[in-house]
Amino acid sequence: MDNLVRLLDSNKAWAAARLSEDRDYFNRLAHLQQPEFLWIGCSDSRVAANVITGTQPGEIFVHRNIANMVVHTDMNLLSVLEYSVNVLKVKHIIVCGHYGCGGVKAASEQKSLGIINNWLRNIEDVFRTHRDELTAIPGEKQRVDRLVELNVEEQVLNLAKTSIVQRAWKIKQETTLHGWVYGLDDGIIKPLTQVDSTEAIDPVYRYDNL
Ligand code: CO
Repeated sequence: MDNLVRLLDSNKAWAAARLSEDRDYFNRLAHLQQPEFLWIGCSDSRVAANVITGTQPGEIFVHRNIANMVVHTDMNLLSVLEYSVNVLKVKHIIVCGHYGCGGVKAASEQKSLGIINNWLRNIEDVFRTHRDELTAIPGEKQRVDRLVELNVEEQVLNLAKTSIVQRAWKIKQETTLHGWVYGLDDGIIKPLTQVDSTEAIDPVYRYDNL
């Protein structure tokens, strides 16, 4: 219980500090949300979008799930994506994975974990797609970390496959997709990939009538 009280006490101190810097701080934020970025990250408690990017409330629209996945039957993700692109008109969509991801590690093992098996299967599909490269890597940690990178790249492609993103590109709305990976060891984000037009995607996924 003491730890829970600590959260509420910290919150009061934080709010007071904001007001002492800027009397209008909450007034302004309460009336306007205009983030430039959508962040799709892992739920891992160590990879907090605002904290690791040094950004303030109001700057990043955030969606997090286990292993930063873009799953096309996930209504939660699709709703966040559509709102971000069509209403907030974010300029950048960032998929940020992280080395040492427990979700990616679990997907590369053979142990059944219950319901989560079905979520992790999406990562196993990424493994299957890149099996030759991954099985050639000798160390387990290195293999999982490479799967983390490949998974980020695949999730960026999954964003590009959606009619939401393809429509934004069609109407020339600035929407750039980014794949990043964060290092738990050093706190540094490494950019891996960037996609900003339909040319990057396999024609089998392309819609011509948006
Ligand atoms: Co993770």
